[in-house]
Amino acid sequence: MNPLLHLSETQSAIIDTAREFCAQEVSPFAAQWDRDAHFEPTLVRKLGELGFLGMMIPEAYDGLGLDTTTYLLALEEISAADASVGVLMSVHNSLPTQMILKYGSDAQKAEFLGPLARGEKLGAFALSEPEAGSDASALRTQAVRDGDDWVLNGTKSWISAGGHAGVILAMARTDTPEARRGGKGIGAFIITPDLEGFKVGKKENKMGLRASETVQLVFDNMRVPADRLLGDASMGFAYAMQSLEAGRLGIAAQALGIARAACEHATAYARERHQFGKAIGEFQGIQFKLADMATRIHAARSLLHATAAAKDRGESVTEYAAMCKLFATETAMWVTTQAIQVFGGYGYTTDYPVERLFRDAKVTEIYEGTSEIQRIVIGRAALKGG
Ligand code: CAA
Repeated sequence: MNPLLHLSETQSAIIDTAREFCAQEVSPFAAQWDRDAHFEPTLVRKLGELGFLGMMIPEAYDGLGLDTTTYLLALEEISAADASVGVLMSVHNSLPTQMILKYGSDAQKAEFLGPLARGEKLGAFALSEPEAGSDASALRTQAVRDGDDWVLNGTKSWISAGGHAGVILAMARTDTPEARRGGKGIGAFIITPDLEGFKVGKKENKMGLRASETVQLVFDNMRVPADRLLGDASMGFAYAMQSLEAGRLGIAAQALGIARAACEHATAYARERHQFGKAIGEFQGIQFKLADMATRIHAARSLLHATAAAKDRGESVTEYAAMCKLFATETAMWVTTQAIQVFGGYGYTTDYPVERLFRDAKVTEIYEGTSEIQRIVIGRAALKGG
């Protein structure tokens, strides 16, 4: 843990709870779930019972009402055991719940936040589409007002846990094809899978994070009651972008968990593996690798927690959240690559967990905004004088 971070009693207790939960319910099964591409549905209820699905939801809605830093500490622990469980927790806590909390009406909060906090319903976030990934505001899913409903048509891609979610925050165009308004013509809708016209589409067969199910969602003349529109009908893209600030901090914590696990495995292996008559950790070549891994992880965690503290003080951290995600995810990719090198040939096999960590690390550089998109966000802020 970061020695610069003075943990409160609550934070220490949350970390202990997360570690105990992972030791019993996650770590023993992570390799098998990965091999089988198995999403374990009982985890949702178990995480909910511990409060891990309502970490920043106020106690009035059955959440834990904790700050961003504490949430990220728990997320790092869970992700160190299994990054697939980490992404479930990150998307749920950072995106749909935060969007409803910040922009929802009192009635929407009363209806949805409790079940989300208790783990009775899992949350998902539907922004991307087959033709709108990095260029998110080019999304095409169309929402047309019809009496007391909106009628939605379109396909959403890369939806984490979309097939298991009970509450999905989906962005759709509310402007007309004749008067396109880019990011300012998009609404955010609270979708539940019971709506007529809602279908779960193709399931992706992924390189990593295989225990996190990723699907397409198809909206086929899906009628959404008007009271499911979140806030202003033209502000959905801004709400989504704003929520991605917390999302990107979450993915940074997930990446940190992956990197830490890889570093711990490599360090243990460097102590036990002997070549040329001594433990390989006694060779400077290996020590330097471990030193660089530990240094980068410490830098990523320090950046993350400084940014989380600023966010909790109410400051805008858009470009800093992008920096956290960029640095922590590239750190995870680099550290997992080095960890495999420390293990040599064994690291390239499924006998050890570092190859899974390496595969899991890769997607953190891609989803919730690629590294290139993070650099765009940071670069634009720099040019504005941020
Ligand atoms: N906060 C609040 N509002 C914001 C905002 C922010 N951080 N960023 C943009 N907006 C709003 C503003 O109203 C803005 O209008 P102004 O220019 O007047 O301020 C409007 O949105 C349009 O913004 P941009 O002109 O900046 O939009 P753009 O089309 O140039 O796109 C982008 C900017 C940064 C490239 C953005 O499209 C982006 O972040 N792309 C990456 C998409 C992404 O992260 N996808 C993640 C998918 S979710 C996922 O992966 C979850 C999962 O399951 C794991």
